[in-house]
Amino acid sequence: MKEQIEQIRKNAISEVEKATDLRQLEEIRVKYSGKKSELTVASREISTLPKSERPVMGGLINQVKKEIEQLIKEKEKALAKEELTKKLETEKIDITLPSIKVKRGSKHPLTRITEEVEDIYVSMGYNVVSGPELETDEFCFERLNIPKGHPARDMQDTFYITSEYLLRTQTSSMQARTMEDNKEKTPIRIICPGKTYRRDDDATHSHQFNQVESLVIDKNISVADLKGTLEMFVRKMLGEDLDIRLRPSYFPFTEPSYEVDVTCFKCKGKGCNLCKQTGWIEILGSGMVHPNVLRANGYDPEIYGGFAIGVGLDRLAMFKYDIPDIRLLYQNDVRFLNQFDKCDRN
Ligand code: PHE
Repeated sequence: MKEQIEQIRKNAISEVEKATDLRQLEEIRVKYSGKKSELTVASREISTLPKSERPVMGGLINQVKKEIEQLIKEKEKALAKEELTKKLETEKIDITLPSIKVKRGSKHPLTRITEEVEDIYVSMGYNVVSGPELETDEFCFERLNIPKGHPARDMQDTFYITSEYLLRTQTSSMQARTMEDNKEKTPIRIICPGKTYRRDDDATHSHQFNQVESLVIDKNISVADLKGTLEMFVRKMLGEDLDIRLRPSYFPFTEPSYEVDVTCFKCKGKGCNLCKQTGWIEILGSGMVHPNVLRANGYDPEIYGGFAIGVGLDRLAMFKYDIPDIRLLYQNDVRFLNQFDKCDRN
């Protein structure tokens, strides 16, 4: 029996030595310490030995068991280390390789223009508000001194959802909404940028476009305030060296009304194809809030007055970025949009 155990010991040692991975080692462990292992079987046979030999044999079996266990433990450590080294070797990263380029988006030119306009007005103490695109006939027209059948409605032939609701044709609807909401009659200084809709479709008109409305209501507001604001806005937006020109015009909700031209920023007023040789470019509509509009929205025109400005943001973007066709702004062609990526890094 002693020789037999000695043989088991030898076999175990050589098998452990030969093991090349942790799985093999686990098999060896089961083979030599499991219930059916040779050593376990041998220890059961101790009872058949003469009494005097039993303790010696028992001691030997235990010692061999422990020795094999210890060997397996050591081998296990060595193999684990080896496997880790191998893994590190194969998963090695070459940090000198160029990195994968992350494609970054850019702001849409209209977002860019809107944010610029907002910054200018906020610096003058205005609040930025937004209003519904699905508007009522009342706020889009009636409360702005454009009753049913008024010829000014023709120019905004538009998208009615029902006879009551339509997609707003102008952000001017927010003039009425802001006055209506301001029950305390505190001074109003707001701008409202947003989408507007009309039944238009050509190189300079789209069925969807963007406007920004400005409205000031207070006591003692004059055309001088309007003109000063316009000058400030135009110079900050398009260039400090530009002048503006107010031409009499007509809007049902302002009186007097002005079409505003700015010195052509391409030729600086000399005359070119952009300004059709006039030296001026029309950029917006404006005027003093009409007494009927004040009255319709709860203000006494004897006490309060104000001015309103409406700017087409698409037109502004087209001028500023030299975009020849308004439809480019709505087609989401990345080749077009990518070009504005460069502006972000300035
Ligand atoms: N709402 C007018 C338009 O869409 C523009 C405008 C706004 C004119 C405010 C005067 C004052 O044509």
